[in-house]
Amino acid sequence: VKLAHVQALDQADPLASRRQAFNLPEGVIYLDGNSLGALPVAAQARARQVVDLQWGQGLIQSWNSHDWINLPVQLGEKIARLLGAASGQTLCCDSTSINLFKLLHSALHMQQGRSVVLTQSDNFPADLYIAEGLENNIGVAGCQLQRVAAEAIPQHLTREVAVLLLTHVNFKSGAMHDMEQLTRLAHAQGILVIWDLAHSAGAMPLALDRCEVDFAVGCGYKYLNGGPGAPAFLYAATRHHGALQHPLQGWMGHKAPFDFAASYEPAAGIRQFLCGTPSIIAMSILDAALDVFADVEMDVLRGKSEALMELFLELKDANPVLQELQLASPRASQYRGSHLAFTHPDAYAICQALIARQVICDFRAPDILRLGFAPLYISYRNVWDSSVILGEVMASKVYKAEAYAQRAQVT
Ligand SMILES: Cc1ncc(COP(=O)(O)O)c(C=O)c1O
Repeated sequence: VKLAHVQALDQADPLASRRQAFNLPEGVIYLDGNSLGALPVAAQARARQVVDLQWGQGLIQSWNSHDWINLPVQLGEKIARLLGAASGQTLCCDSTSINLFKLLHSALHMQQGRSVVLTQSDNFPADLYIAEGLENNIGVAGCQLQRVAAEAIPQHLTREVAVLLLTHVNFKSGAMHDMEQLTRLAHAQGILVIWDLAHSAGAMPLALDRCEVDFAVGCGYKYLNGGPGAPAFLYAATRHHGALQHPLQGWMGHKAPFDFAASYEPAAGIRQFLCGTPSIIAMSILDAALDVFADVEMDVLRGKSEALMELFLELKDANPVLQELQLASPRASQYRGSHLAFTHPDAYAICQALIARQVICDFRAPDILRLGFAPLYISYRNVWDSSVILGEVMASKVYKAEAYAQRAQVT
């Protein structure tokens, strides 16, 4: 691969101009949008506007005058377009973990007589912890967590299983499940399916309705660029709304919160999944961040994501000093999300050496170097430059310096 070819790829990139929608520090190559998305210019402006005007000047009237009260539903609708979901099924609220608790509890309640929650052994720990909490019998009749390897999932889809709980794109390897096929196989056994879309939403086209998904959750702070700890989202298919009973019966999910009735009666539809007062400042920032996707074709976005990763792998394969890094992601792009994982015994130090050279990436214990390729703001030239810098770090073994061994609290 020649630099001229890389420059031509940038010239022909229909998403190249999207980079201007982000406020990225000069000189930084940001390969961590899979963990914390970059700052959209519009989100920065909205933060100021919400704090200074809507809160500062509008005070409590803004619940009505700026329609704060309906933000969770309005944002849900914006996110729905990215999920391939028709109106009325997606809500923006709480964290992914809390949304998973609500949906897993509801799904178990719908599956009387079954108690197994089948999941993947290397699922994201937050999802395992939430399911473990339910297994310890917090308020449901039965919950038994069964963890199996990814390849073994189909053979474990039996009539004992109540819920199949999977993350679509694995947080470490980036391996991506076939959502349509696994959902169909689960349904054939009467199993409800919950998909965690933390590493999928905003990185590729999704088709929750077409795949007849039952429930889904996901983050607002990764590819959706909503900022650290941004509100998450949940999806519940309309066909289940009547049967749902959710455990966190907060007043915002009541059918008439400002009646202040003594007993809980859920709102109709997706709104019943609200719990307490939404975080309006954070939600407003995510709202502005989502507008960056307004005229983006998700197929085009996915095409660029695949091409960026393919270029990185070609550059890596062509450089002998990079052979020490073992690809831990599937080689074929149709089987992975938008990040690449490489194993190396010194992965942590290599990551720190890259960060010191303005290539921001992350490390996942015990030995994974993770590089994310957020197609809205990563250029082909960024890919070229990052592979050159990685090559220098590996060839010089500069990562062996003591400074790079110091483990920070967040990796
Ligand atoms: C796959 C997956 N699920 C769940 C979570 C946890 O999300 P939250 O911190 O919003 O609860 C994460 C966080 O990175 C994740 O990657």
